[in-house]
Formats: sequence, C-alpha cells, structure tokens
Amino acid sequence: SAAEKAGYASFMLKEIAEQPKAVADTLLGRVDGSGTLSLDEVRIPAGVLREVDKVVVVACGTAYHAGLIAKYAIEHWTRIPCEVELASEFRYRDPILDQQTLVVAISQSGETMDTLMALRHAREQGARVLAICNTNGSTIPRESDAVLYTHAGPEVAVASTKAFLTQLVACYLVALYLGQVRGTKYGDEIGDVVRDLSGISGAVERVLGTMDPVRELARSLAHKNTVLFLGRHVGHPVALEGALKLKELAYMHAEGFAAGELKHGPIALIEEDLPVVVVVPSPRGRSILHDKIVSNIQEIRARGARTIVIAEEGDEAVVPYADHLVRVPATPTLLQPLVATVPLQVFACELATARGNEVDQPRNLAKSVTVE
Ligand code: G6P
Repeated sequence: SAAEKAGYASFMLKEIAEQPKAVADTLLGRVDGSGTLSLDEVRIPAGVLREVDKVVVVACGTAYHAGLIAKYAIEHWTRIPCEVELASEFRYRDPILDQQTLVVAISQSGETMDTLMALRHAREQGARVLAICNTNGSTIPRESDAVLYTHAGPEVAVASTKAFLTQLVACYLVALYLGQVRGTKYGDEIGDVVRDLSGISGAVERVLGTMDPVRELARSLAHKNTVLFLGRHVGHPVALEGALKLKELAYMHAEGFAAGELKHGPIALIEEDLPVVVVVPSPRGRSILHDKIVSNIQEIRARGARTIVIAEEGDEAVVPYADHLVRVPATPTLLQPLVATVPLQVFACELATARGNEVDQPRNLAKSVTVE
C-alpha cells in the first residue's frame, strides 16, 4: 500500500533512499572508534579462522556481485585465496573443499534454493559456512555454522538495492575481521578502512542528493535497445550489477564488461550513439588502472559511443571524454562500489519507469527463488 511505501512511488525508490541508514545499521556495534572490529556473533573460533587456507563465496544474482567484490577485499586484506562461484554451478563441478575451507554464503532472503544446496554440499565436505544474510531465522543462516546479519530491514522490491550495499559492508567486515584475527601485515590499513567505512553512510547520502541529472539522462535513453557497462578491478562487478539492474527492470539488452577486455571483443559492439556507462577507479592509489580506463573511454568515444562516466570528485582527466559525468565521493579503492552502484540503481529504476514498467514486480522474476 501507499502507506507502506512512506510516500515513495515504489518500494524500490524507498529502499534506494534507505541505503544511508542501512549501511550504518550494518556497522552498528561491530566497530569501535579505534578501528577494532568485534564480530562476536561470528561463532567460528579464532583458532579455526587462523587455519583457513581458502575462502569460497557462493551466491546468486545481485548477491553474487557482492561476492565478486568481496574477493578483492578478502585477498587483499587476508592474503587467503578466494574463489567466487554462482551457487547454481558450485556443487556440480566437484569443488575442492575441506575443514580449512571457509565458505561464505551470501543471500538477502536466506531462502534461495541454489545457495542452500551449495552450502549443504560444502558442509558435507567438512567446510565451515558463514552466512551473510538479511532475514533473521531464515533457512540459510539456520543451516550455517555462523551468520552475519546485514540489518538492512525488509527489502520488498524484487531488484535488490539496499541489501546489496549492506552485503558489501558485511563482506568488508568479514575480510577485515579475518585480517584482524590472523594479524596480517595490513594491520594499520585495516584501522583506516574501518574508519572510512563509518563515513560511507554520509557519502551514499551525498550521492543520493545529486541524482536529478541521472534521472533526466535515464528518461532521455528510454527508447534505446542496448546499454553497455564497463569497469575494472572492483568496478567490474559494479558494471555487472548495473547491467543486471537494467535487464531486470527495463527489459533492455544490457551487458557489463571488464574494461581491459574491450579490445578482445566488446569494442566491436560500439556504434554511433550507443550509451556506455564507465565506472572509473580513483586516480589516487592504483592510478595505472585509472589511466588505462581513461584511454578506454577515449577509444569508445572515438567510435561514436555516448559515454556516461562515473568518476570520483576531483578527477579532471575524465572531463574531456565524458558526454555525461556522474560524480561520486572519494573513497578508498576497495570501497568505491558502495558509492558507484547507487547512480546505477537510480538510472535503472528511472529508465524502467520511463518505459512504463512496474519496477517493484518485474515480469518473470521472483524476489526469492526457492526452487533449483
Ligand atoms: C532473485 C532476486 C535477485 C536476488 C537473487 C538472490 O533472483 O530477483 O534480486 O539477487 O534472487 O537472492 P538472495 O535472497 O539469495 O540474495
């Protein structure tokens, strides 16, 4: 009902707007001012976590994209190899699992059958399973060794928004916590990142306050058939998520690519006035990736693409090549998906609405897929 939507036209818009609070709630009580994490609810003994020699993330849909981003954080902060797999594929390839494997199962609903079957398989092989879940007492957390709840509040719209952002925060917490427990050489950095995470709620709020041009752009593209998304590093899964949102909601052909792969195929798709969204990594830090993606933007623009560039505030190098420029606040590289995803959610929601689609209940999709 309208009352439940609190004045918003859709649950999706309401849930997009709730993201600053949702990400703050995921952190609540789990970090202190000194940058130390306390995840007492993760009832896997520290001794067991110190012995983990492989992390495997299993999930579906948007939660899988959170897992792809988690891999960068887990490997960087813990130096433990991490694989990410679609839950529906996992058990059919006879994966290598034992007591030293930590399986992280990510699921908003906690009821996705593919993810549940993957975690059952993992436990049968002796692996420990940590669930990242938004629904208290649901099946996936009940069948896991431990659970980190995302505390996003109920998500009603089929296309996941606030659950995704909070899954990311939970993944970062797990990665940082593993680093903390294992005493990796990133100790100082971990404290800084924990503090940076505390600023994310405000950063998301700022992004939400600047979305009018994104909505206007989305409406102007409502007649298009295809939109491509490019990104590198953690921006690659962000590109995949931007494309998924557009498929789910606008029923358009949308594809996400790793920008480095452009020359190996996707550049053949570029034609006059094709909208291409590019997620640009920060020019600070790993600036070589920034420079490479700026050349990618030049290359596609020279071939006629209409470039929609998502870049950090103060990144001037992209300005000459951006037909549309969307600014996001500066964050540490690994945390950028928390701000860069938000304009893509707004873009897909507005574009779908402009095409006359019902955003909360997209055709053929279910919020929670409880069959294999
Ligand atoms: C369905 C939903 C997606 C969701 C996926 C995984 O496909 O439409 O929005 O990402 O399931 O759901 P889960 O509840 O396991 O996160």
